[in-house]
Amino acid sequence: MSAKQNQKLAERSIPGMMNRQERFAQTERADDIGATLKRIVTYFMGEKTLAAGMLAVVIFGTLCGIYAPSLQSNAVDMIAGEKSGVLIHTLLLMLSVYLLSAVCGLLQGLFSVRLSQNVVKRMREELFGKIMELPVCYLDAHSHGDVMSRMTNDIENISSTISQSLPSLCSGTLTIIGTAAIMMWYCWQLALLSLATVFLTLAATKILSEKVRRFSRQRQMLLGQLNGTVEEMVSGYPTVVAYNHQNITTEDFCATADSLTKAGIKTDIFSGVMGPAMNCISNISFVMIAAFGGYFSVKGLISVGVISAFIVYAKQFGRPINEIAQIYGQLQTAIAGAERVFAVLDEEGEDRSGELLAETKQAAVTFKNVRFSYAAGIPVIRNFTLTVPNGKKVALVGATGSGKTTIVNLLLRFYETESGEICINGQNIQTVAKSSLRKNVAIVLQDTVLFSNTVRSNLKYGNDAATDGQIRAAAEMSQCRELIELLPEGYDTELTGSGANISQGQRQLLAIARAFVADPKILILDEATSNVDTRTEQAIQDAMQRIMQGRTSIVIAHRLSTIRDSDLIVVMDQGEIAESGSHESLLAKKGKYYELYMTQYAGFAT
Ligand SMILES: Nc1ncnc2c1ncn2[C@@H]1O[C@H](COP(=O)(O)OP(=O)(O)O)[C@@H](O)[C@H]1O
Ligand SMILES: [Mg+2]
Repeated sequence: MSAKQNQKLAERSIPGMMNRQERFAQTERADDIGATLKRIVTYFMGEKTLAAGMLAVVIFGTLCGIYAPSLQSNAVDMIAGEKSGVLIHTLLLMLSVYLLSAVCGLLQGLFSVRLSQNVVKRMREELFGKIMELPVCYLDAHSHGDVMSRMTNDIENISSTISQSLPSLCSGTLTIIGTAAIMMWYCWQLALLSLATVFLTLAATKILSEKVRRFSRQRQMLLGQLNGTVEEMVSGYPTVVAYNHQNITTEDFCATADSLTKAGIKTDIFSGVMGPAMNCISNISFVMIAAFGGYFSVKGLISVGVISAFIVYAKQFGRPINEIAQIYGQLQTAIAGAERVFAVLDEEGEDRSGELLAETKQAAVTFKNVRFSYAAGIPVIRNFTLTVPNGKKVALVGATGSGKTTIVNLLLRFYETESGEICINGQNIQTVAKSSLRKNVAIVLQDTVLFSNTVRSNLKYGNDAATDGQIRAAAEMSQCRELIELLPEGYDTELTGSGANISQGQRQLLAIARAFVADPKILILDEATSNVDTRTEQAIQDAMQRIMQGRTSIVIAHRLSTIRDSDLIVVMDQGEIAESGSHESLLAKKGKYYELYMTQYAGFAT
C-alpha cells in the first residue's frame, strides 16, 4: 500500500480509534520510573509473607545454581586425575543441588503468580474504589475510554508483566551478581572474556528487539485500525449499502489488511531470527572460552574442570541478561500503565463531609444570585435567582447551551457554584453532605442509563429497601406495568448493558419508574421526552405528570407542550433568566417564550 493511501486511511479512520493509536505511542515511556517502581514495591510490601517466602526461595535457588557448576568442575578434575576424591559422591551432590535448584524455580513461579495476582487485585480494587469517589467533573478532562483503559488495559498490563517478569527480575539480578563474582574468583581473565561475549549478546538483542517492537507496534496500530473499520462498517452497514460504498470500503479494508500482513511478517521474521542469532553468539562464546581456557590451563592458571564450569557460568550469566533485555520494553509499558493508574489514585476524591439535609416533608429550592463557569472566566450561569416552592413544578426552557443542564448539575453538586447560593428549605446545600443531598433528589436524564441487571434491581436503584408492592405501584404509575409484564421474565428479565432489548422510550419509562421507587422530595426531569415515538411520548408525559404531582419538580423540556401547565416557566438565555411567568402571561408578553413557542408550533399556530 502506498504512503498516500495510508495517509488517506489514517484521515478516514474513526476518531476513537485514532486516540487509541495515539495512546499506544504514548504508553511507551514512564515519566518517573524510579518513583513509580518505588510505589509498586510498596504494594509488594503489603504481602509480607509471600514476598519474604519468594525472596528466600530465590536466594536459595540462585545459590544452588551458582554452586552446582563448581561441583561439576571438581568432578571433571577428578576424572582428569587432577584432583582426588570420590567421584560418585560429588556427582550425587551435584544431582541434589540441581534438583533443589529446580524445585526452587518451581516454587518461585508459584510464589510470584500468587504475589502478583494479590498485588494486582489490590490495585484494581483501589482504582475502582477511587473511580467511584471521583467528582463528576473528572470526566470533563478525561474521556470515558481513557478511564476505562486505565481500569482494564493498564491493570492487565501490570498484572501480566509482573507475573511474567518478576521471577526473571529477582533471580536474574542475583544470578548475574553471583555468577560474575564466582567467575572472577576462579580466573578473572577468563571471566572478563566471558562477560565480553555476553555484552555482544546484549547488543544483538537490543538491535533485534527494537526492530520487533517497532513492527509489532505498527501491527498493533493497524490491527486497531482494521478492527475500527470492521466495527464501523458492521454498525453502519445499511448506510454503506445505501450509498453503494461496498467496493470502496472493501478496498480500504484490503489496503489496511495488506499493510497489516507486511507488518506481521516483519515482526515474526525478526522475532524468529532472535533465537538462532542468540544461539549462534553463545556457541561462539563457548568456542572462545574453550580456546582461551585451554590456553590458560596449559599455562597452569586453571584446571580443565574450571573450563567446563565456565561454559556453564557463561550460559547462566547470559540468560537473565537476555531475559531482562527482552522484557524491558514490556516493563516500560507496564510502568507507564502503573503511572497512569497511580495518577487516578492520586486524584482528590469528592468531599463527602457535611451535615444531613434536614428531615421535613417539604422541599423548596431557592437559587440566589448563582454564578458558575466550567472554564475560569467564561461564566455559563450568571445572576441566577429562582425559587421553586414546595410541591410546585418549575420548567426551564431555552435554547441549547443556555445553561439548563448546568443548573441541574449545580443542584446535585456535581459542580460547585462560583458565587451565590442554592438552598433547600433554607439550608445551603454547600453545607450538606452530597450523599444526603442526592438521596433527596432524583433525576431522569435525557440519556437514560439502565444497568446490566434485572428490571427489578434497576427499579430499586435509588431505594434498595423498596418492597415488591412499591415497585409494582411505581411501574403502574409510570405506565410500564404492561411493558414489564410483556418481557420474557417480567421483573426478573435481565436488561443488557445498553438496554438494547428494550426501546429508548421504554427505557425512559423505566427510568421514571425508578425515580418513582426512589420517591424523592425533589425531582428533576431533563429533556426526558426526546427521541421517542408519539405513542410512547404520550405515555411518558402521563407518567411524568403523575410523578410530578405534588412534588417539587424542575423540568427541562424542549417540547413546550410538556410544560405548558407548569406553575412557573423560566426562560433562560445564555445563563441568565430572560423572563419568567405562567404559560399564558409569557405568551401575552410576546417575548422570548412567545418566539420559542411560535417556532415550535408554527404549523399549528393560528
Ligand atoms: N462539562 C462541561 N465543560 C465545559 N463546558 C460545558 C460543560 N457542560 C456544558 N458546558 C457548556 O455550558 C453551556 C451550558 O450548557 P448546558 O447547561 O448543557 O446547556 P443546556 O442544557 O441548556 O443545553 C454550554 O455553552 C456548554 O457548552
Ligand atoms: Mg441540556
